[in-house]
Amino acid sequence: MNSKDQKVLVSTFEKEVSEGLTAFPKYLSSKFFYDEVGDALFQQIMELPEYYLTRAEYEIFEMHKSDIIQNFDVSNKGFDLIELGAGDGKKTKVLLQELLNQHYDFTYTPIDISENAITGLVKNLNTEMPKVTVRGQIGEYFEVLDRLKHISDRKKVIMVLGSNIGNLLHPRAIQFLKRLCNSMHVGDLLFMGFDQKKHPQKVLDAYNDKSGVTAAFNKNVLARINKELNANFNLDKFIHWETYDPESGTAKSYLVSKEKQTVDIDNLSLQVHFEAWESIHTEISQKYDDDIVKWLTKESGLKIEKSFSDQHNDYKDYLITKVE
Ligand SMILES: C[S@@+](CC[C@H](N)C(=O)[O-])C[C@H]1O[C@@H](n2cnc3c(N)ncnc32)[C@H](O)[C@@H]1O
Repeated sequence: MNSKDQKVLVSTFEKEVSEGLTAFPKYLSSKFFYDEVGDALFQQIMELPEYYLTRAEYEIFEMHKSDIIQNFDVSNKGFDLIELGAGDGKKTKVLLQELLNQHYDFTYTPIDISENAITGLVKNLNTEMPKVTVRGQIGEYFEVLDRLKHISDRKKVIMVLGSNIGNLLHPRAIQFLKRLCNSMHVGDLLFMGFDQKKHPQKVLDAYNDKSGVTAAFNKNVLARINKELNANFNLDKFIHWETYDPESGTAKSYLVSKEKQTVDIDNLSLQVHFEAWESIHTEISQKYDDDIVKWLTKESGLKIEKSFSDQHNDYKDYLITKVE
């Protein structure tokens, strides 16, 4: 990442932290969970017994990898695979290996806001799969997609795994899908994971594990503000709180202040006051069913071609194209 990109990310962090903590009710974006510590905590989350999402998507890939990648390059002319919010790419590697095994002509461009995640993934792929042409990109989804507009005129396959879209409520998810649609040509493909509605307790448990890893992950956003913006949040004075509304399918994470307190954020010259039991909303994890995904895609100029599900129907990956 060059120093200009680094400055953009830092100033986005400062601006959004300031906006979120001076708003009522307070909020912080979940994209700020991910630094070196947050990435490592998320890797632990993916191993938790309660966090079914990763295992379900992994199972789908293991079961359907051949069928999935066949759809990536029907005309056999080669393609560019672009992944938004790639993280450690653990599941993606199943598909990359299958693409290599079947001698497809492709490049892989993982994009992530976490510099640590992209550096680690590129290094790992260079060692484990040296035959894959990897072009790691650090930055926010659309800022990078804009930068990449003219990388090649081959077919594009845009991949968004881990139900990353679930961090957006429906109106913003439609904006997100519309922007993806605008960056696609007819014939390009979107391959996207959507976590499905299920027993509410199972959803709640996934974001509120017994061992407290998700709580530490949620609080990491405060630790980051302490580290990067010279603040003095006392993490013990906040609790992690999760809710799930089965009607809307929306799970929400909060950090709740256990007492009345004031926090200084020196780099922003900001004092943030909390009443006892006041909350900071930190994450949305939306759950879906086929009708909702059909509606979201239709609203965005896209259509579902096919879907793949795990054996419990907990999770689905959809192959989506642009409407002609
Ligand atoms: C829940 S993790 C999922 C990682 C991976 N897709 C998976 O399925 O295991 C979300 C990832 O998206 C990245 N991310 C979140 N918001 C982002 C944004 N606005 N732009 C780029 N990356 C983002 C995070 O840094 C993190 O690595």
